[in-house]
Amino acid sequence: MKILVTGGAGFIGSNFIYLLLRERPEWEIVCVDALTYAANIHTLNEAAKSEKFTFYKEDIRNRDGIYAIFDKEQPDTVVNFAAETHVDRSIENPGIFLETNVLGTAVLMDACLKYGVERFHQVGTDEVYGDLPLDRPDLLFREDTPIHTSSPYSASKAGADLLVLAYFRTFGLQVTVSRCSNNYGPYQFPEKLIPLMINNATHGKPLPVYGNGLNVRDWLYVEDHCRGILAILEKGKTGEVYNLGGHNEKTNIEIVRTILRELGRPESLITYVGDRKGHDRRYAIDPSKANRELGWQPTVMFADGIRMTIRWYTEHTGWLDECTSGDYVNYYARMYSGR
Ligand code: NAD
Ligand code: DAU
Repeated sequence: MKILVTGGAGFIGSNFIYLLLRERPEWEIVCVDALTYAANIHTLNEAAKSEKFTFYKEDIRNRDGIYAIFDKEQPDTVVNFAAETHVDRSIENPGIFLETNVLGTAVLMDACLKYGVERFHQVGTDEVYGDLPLDRPDLLFREDTPIHTSSPYSASKAGADLLVLAYFRTFGLQVTVSRCSNNYGPYQFPEKLIPLMINNATHGKPLPVYGNGLNVRDWLYVEDHCRGILAILEKGKTGEVYNLGGHNEKTNIEIVRTILRELGRPESLITYVGDRKGHDRRYAIDPSKANRELGWQPTVMFADGIRMTIRWYTEHTGWLDECTSGDYVNYYARMYSGR
């Protein structure tokens, strides 16, 4: 088996590569990543020591470059993690989200058709379903929940999902799509809630909570997400969408308080700031299809996962410092000062 993983120098893609190296040691892994601001090449230092691992710096929008890699490597399976992923950045600059998330996905699928790749898996998000009301805990996102996006990010991901399903119907490309809720764990870029709050709390900086802090996200430990993708590759039915989530809903303020408590920092660091435009209220996944059809279920309890995550960031301050130097300083000022 030769698997080509795009976006493998980012958060979830790198965790997926490490899962494969541990649990599918006979597989050959080809990683393609453009190394945008969200990547950290040092994340893959351990993977690079394996003779089963090959890395290409390439942009999925670059058709010639992508075709050359497929021609040389002839992968059996492609898993597409490569994307622009931060909602706040999509509000600032939607264009790059359309280019990478929609057009880049099309380039990869064209390459799959041209080079006879047997399987294409698209890593999607629960954000394509829009949001749920806070006062209806009985409502969950199912695979047949209508697509109803709120941000340029989620609209671009919805466009990609629809294109992937269209390639199945029109060209017979053997595809699957997963839609997962919010992930947390090692190697997440500190623009996202959990690593940003850990980083700020560690440095005694204010913790910027959007709006009233009562928006709800459904958190899943990243390795459980990666196991779900592997289960879909090995047992999923092509042409199908699978939701992945852990029935683990938390308000943002609960998350922030947990981080402060675990790090022994004061709640006076919490600072309420202006809300995100179009801010989705609540996400909540119904993962029963993946459970029933693939036998997949989460294995990491949030109380354990968040402790492991906080410990990982406090033990990898060098990695965090690499992410927060350079352009991050400008990004942070643009996004948060005077908010
Ligand atoms: P990330 O931002 O941490 O990493 C994205 C990676 O893609 C980076 O390494 C980046 O360099 C690469 N990339 C970006 N544009 C590229 C391009 N044009 N060509 C090649 N590589 C490019 O993202 P993540 O959080 O790991 O998310 C991975 C996937 O999972 C995305 O498709 C995202 O939509 C989806 N997802 C994320 C979450 C979450 O909570 N983080 C939840 C559900 C789904
Ligand atoms: O649901 C899956 C999605 O989860 C993925 O598809 C996205 O790629 C991923 O970024 C994530 O999107 P969110 O917008 O939910 O994640 P983020 O970490 O940006 O924000 C989580 C919540 O925390 C959200 O309600 C906004 C809030 N927030 C975020 C930041 C960065 C704050 O209150 N303050 C902050 O500084």
